[in-house]
Amino acid sequence: MNEIFKSIEKIAIKISNALKYTELGYTDHKNQTGDVQLKLDVLSDKIIEEEFKKIDSIKAIISEEKDDIQDINLDGKYIVAYDPLDGSSLVDVNFAVGSIFGIYEHELKPKNLVASAYAIYGPRLELVICIDKPQLYRFAENKEFKFIKDLKLAEKGKLNSTGASQWGWSQKHREFVKKLFDEKYRLRYSGAMVADLHQILLKGGGIFSYPATTDAPKAKLRVVFEVLPFAYIYEKAGGKTTDGNSNSLFEIEIKEVHQTTPCFFGSSYEIETLKKIYKD
Ligand code: AHG
Ligand code: MN
Ligand code: MN
Repeated sequence: MNEIFKSIEKIAIKISNALKYTELGYTDHKNQTGDVQLKLDVLSDKIIEEEFKKIDSIKAIISEEKDDIQDINLDGKYIVAYDPLDGSSLVDVNFAVGSIFGIYEHELKPKNLVASAYAIYGPRLELVICIDKPQLYRFAENKEFKFIKDLKLAEKGKLNSTGASQWGWSQKHREFVKKLFDEKYRLRYSGAMVADLHQILLKGGGIFSYPATTDAPKAKLRVVFEVLPFAYIYEKAGGKTTDGNSNSLFEIEIKEVHQTTPCFFGSSYEIETLKKIYKD
């Protein structure tokens, strides 16, 4: 596992450099979820694949930008699922973006997720790595990642980060969002889940939602690459997760590697409030 984390450090440095100097623009390909790939999505995917190919313990890799699982070492133990560049459509406006990694043991099942990590490319380069608890590392002047602190969520926070087009929200979701704003929550939503979830984690709490909409009942975010890796980190930070009805995003069944789900990650108070409103 340690060698996978070391490799994620190398990947983060390489992608961070690529983001600074590579030309922007789209390719003429769509990925499995129908997004037109940016040149940077494809390049980041390649950087990650090249690094992971060097690691014996990795059995296979699967990414948001690949159609299928790719075998690496048949004797390996881990399947690493990743979103190479999350929020990539925001690179042109120079917002923070990230890479997300979920490390599954033997099989792509929620309960087999044994570690996750993400890199955030903002004014600074940071990494959050999580086996038993999420730990924040920052890239320092000596070109090494320095441990900063363990991350914990408070029981209740102040930030409300809610995605998807409002015209398609359910009445219940509208009611929930209004309730939080009436309780003086502040709106925070950049359009890159890495940046939005990182902000909530660092500021101690709140909620990030990506609900179902009338046109997308299964919402947008991808279970294997985005949702479960962050659910793992949030639950290990003392927070909670749900798809609106479940007691945890880990109750989901993976039927297809690119499947999506409505998802909510947050402090305990906000998730319990949401579940109550969704149930009524
Ligand atoms: P990606 O760039 O990997 O396709 O992911 C973008 C995701 C996620 O980061 C973000 O929270 C969400 O899409 C934003 O979607 P909306 O613009 O619909 O809110
Ligand atoms: Mn993404
Ligand atoms: Mn992506």
